[in-house]
Amino acid sequence: MTEQQRVNDSAKNQDLDQYRVSAGEDLTTNQGVRVSDTDNSLKIGSRGPSLRDDFHFQEKLTHFDRERIPERVVHARGSGAHGYFQAYESMAEYTKAKFLQDPSVQTPVFVRFSTVVGFRGSADTVRDVRGFAIKFYTEDGNYDMVGNNIPVFFIQDAIKFPDLVHAIKPEPHNEMPQAAAAHDNFWDFISLTPEAMHMIMWVLSDRALPRSFRMMQGFGIHTFRFVNDQGKSRFVKFHWKPMLGVHSMVFDETQKIGGKDPDFNRRDLWESIEKGNFPEYELGVQIIAEEDEYKFDFDILDPTKLIPEELVPVRPIGKMVLNRNPDNFFAETEQVAFQPSNVVPGIDFSDDPLLQGRLMSYHDTQLHRLGSPNFTELPINKSLCPFHNNQRDGRMQMRIPTSTVNYYPNSLGGGQPAPSETEGYVHYPERVEGQKVRERSPSFKDHFTQATLFFNSLSMPEKEHIVQAAHFELGKVEDKGVRERMVNLFNHVDHELAKKVAMGIGIPAPTQSVSENHGKSSAAISQENTTKTAKGRKVAILAADGVNGEQVMAIKTALQEAGVQAEIVSKFKGMIKSADGQEMMVDKTFLTSASVLFDAIYVPGGAQSSEALRMQGDAIHFINEAFKHCKPIAAIAEGVELLKTSDIKGVKLSDSSMQNDGGVVTAKTQSDLNGFAKSFIEAIAQHRFWMREEKEKVPA
Ligand code: HEM
Repeated sequence: MTEQQRVNDSAKNQDLDQYRVSAGEDLTTNQGVRVSDTDNSLKIGSRGPSLRDDFHFQEKLTHFDRERIPERVVHARGSGAHGYFQAYESMAEYTKAKFLQDPSVQTPVFVRFSTVVGFRGSADTVRDVRGFAIKFYTEDGNYDMVGNNIPVFFIQDAIKFPDLVHAIKPEPHNEMPQAAAAHDNFWDFISLTPEAMHMIMWVLSDRALPRSFRMMQGFGIHTFRFVNDQGKSRFVKFHWKPMLGVHSMVFDETQKIGGKDPDFNRRDLWESIEKGNFPEYELGVQIIAEEDEYKFDFDILDPTKLIPEELVPVRPIGKMVLNRNPDNFFAETEQVAFQPSNVVPGIDFSDDPLLQGRLMSYHDTQLHRLGSPNFTELPINKSLCPFHNNQRDGRMQMRIPTSTVNYYPNSLGGGQPAPSETEGYVHYPERVEGQKVRERSPSFKDHFTQATLFFNSLSMPEKEHIVQAAHFELGKVEDKGVRERMVNLFNHVDHELAKKVAMGIGIPAPTQSVSENHGKSSAAISQENTTKTAKGRKVAILAADGVNGEQVMAIKTALQEAGVQAEIVSKFKGMIKSADGQEMMVDKTFLTSASVLFDAIYVPGGAQSSEALRMQGDAIHFINEAFKHCKPIAAIAEGVELLKTSDIKGVKLSDSSMQNDGGVVTAKTQSDLNGFAKSFIEAIAQHRFWMREEKEKVPA
């Protein structure tokens, strides 16, 4: 790419093309010498010792011995995707960032979603924060927005980050538990760190169990600055909103998926992109004038606080589409190196003390993890616009600088800094003065008002999930003193909450509230108020030989037209034959799948099929479990009879006309397949029917 060229959606893909290599026809050594045999090492006699002469053997083993690099110290498990970002309109009034100027420009991006705590091989669906990091390959260089799916953080000052991470990671003596906060060390730390309480409320909520990377929000968290070309600065907070809405799973489901398919979120992302169902997210900003910095009852530099959308609305400014899977996990997803300090002209930092620490830590950790300051030359990290400076040499230099001059000032070679007033990055000339102190600003002292705001904003089922999560997390804590301190902290958030938490963890309920709940809430916080669509969901069709073919095909087609993926699940792989003689391919078996891997289930009619499923404990378990997890269930004709033999209860099933009760859609006859499909699709869009959790508990 020349300096004048504009970027577009395919620019990074084209750039990467120069590095792609195919398998090739002949095996060679790394020197390109053809290999004649890669199965037998060179020996003296077929039973004798191997020889040092065997350069192929040596190269093969020594390369293998060095194939692992340190995993990320946090966010070790992640999944990446390529795509593009496109602004809706020019944001020139607020920022000179090039990728936010022209709505016709598609800026290539690489995104990495991650869990935080687990090791690289841990399960996707654990209760955890999710990383949401985007590298924008802009015309002005790379911009990294390194955020999470939760808008606040545990701590206010980066100096506490190693303590936080040590506490939440497996305990040092026995390296247990894996990818879980439910242990003494973490809650000990939290019970002594009240600033974490707002974040803890989010982590105990459904937000920490996302149904899909396609269905979670992203946040820049810190307050940043937008700076326009007149040098005027405004504060800005970044928000990503998924076009499919924000949806979560239930904890029991996530734990089971951890065993059934530990790659659940990774697979979902990969398969969606392969199928052309591209994940999309809208970028929104909250912009705050410099003069409004102090107008809130919290400090906008405090990363444990959000700015309620009622106070500063989120303005949508563009959309990101993820449309291409990486070619190679290691080369791209593992080697991508994000740094919050990677900014472009028009975007600058605030003095948030957590952000300030991050500005140093990520560069440092990349030097360690990738092993050389030349990690910026790795294909996935290389900017699209050219880069040149006098930084030379170092391990694995992959470019050949041809200039005879590697210093500045020089009269012999070129390479001048850009005149600052035009293209070069100029830090916002913020006026700062003060004494050197190790202190926390008094404006950071309120740790509970927003924790309470968060709790107040949730629906009843969401609140109940927090109580259950606290029972699980603290139920695993052996030390009574830690549990007592946590109940005390919850009592600062909400008295009723503290009482309920105490009840499940063997601690006397607090008798008095610490302070009156302020009663304030923010509608944007509850997932109840999110976008609801059936698009992107997955339905299991339970069937066996003799199933009613028309009922399978009509509903399957309607689902597919609504963007829902439908798979036939049966006892054995291969084909089943419908009552009218159609051969149908089985996608999954009861052994290779489970209800927890689907969003909804459908049981078509057909007496023989229904009878066969009735005799299969796995099929009945499928129905019970989907019901327990509050998922939509649909059944027609003999399929309804099958539901009656399951444990589902408390909902009305059809005797004649169609019924839709609590997300269970049933029809005794197939007289209106279109209407039936419509009701089922509406139920899928609802995501879950939480009232079932309260009313009816079924074993599963
Ligand atoms: C608002 C607070 C924070 C957010 C949103 C955040 C987000 C992230 C994300 C998304 C990643 C994974 C990047 C990837 O996918 O490669 C990451 C990694 C990391 N974070 Fe943070 N983080 C936060 C706080 C901190 C702090 C305070 C520190 C240290 C002072 C820190 C140090 C690290 C390190 C060392 C890595 C590993 C990077 C790598 O090896 O590539 N983070 N963080």
